[in-house]
Amino acid sequence: MKHIFRQGSNSEKPTFLMLHGTGGTEQDLIQLADIIDPEASVLSVRGNISENGMPRFFKRLAEGIFDMEDLKFRTAELNDFVTKAAGDYGFDRSNVIAIGYSNGANIAANLLYTDRDALKGAILHHPMVPNKEAQLPDLQGKRVFIAAGSNDPICPPEESEELEGMLSAAGASVELHWESRGHQLTMSEVEAAKKWYSNN
Ligand code: MLT
Repeated sequence: MKHIFRQGSNSEKPTFLMLHGTGGTEQDLIQLADIIDPEASVLSVRGNISENGMPRFFKRLAEGIFDMEDLKFRTAELNDFVTKAAGDYGFDRSNVIAIGYSNGANIAANLLYTDRDALKGAILHHPMVPNKEAQLPDLQGKRVFIAAGSNDPICPPEESEELEGMLSAAGASVELHWESRGHQLTMSEVEAAKKWYSNN
């Protein structure tokens, strides 16, 4: 997968797996990693799907309606890519925290939904429930921060609450943070994510 890897200055720190929104690239979220923890390593990936030229991490049938077969395939592909990158770049595979926005947050959530070893934790900006039918693995010990919009037209508040509920029921410790700027990734939610990260 097309990506950028940046070695952090402190090898005890996690590797941030940065996952952009629809139409984004691997360049987009690098600055968020610097805000959350400038000493961490960064693996920022571009989604392999092109929707009319807009990169995405998996196909969709319509706005908010996912191609579930493709989601399954692409989630496994991304998981394998991270494992291979850990070998190639020499970072600790068990210390990866995803930071995703929108479509990138959705595939990050699906990594949590499908493989308890995929991520140590996740910062999800405006995610949806990736799969309402899923049986989640045991997620005890996993920490997840969700930034949601009380007036997000793409991820309605009930959807954010449902995601929080499913992750918590699987044992994850989840913090749900609310904003009121629609689907936008705001600076104040990034600051809240930084605070969550520092406390955890
Ligand atoms: C998705 O397709 O993942 C969601 O609708 C969010 C987005 O617009 O990318």
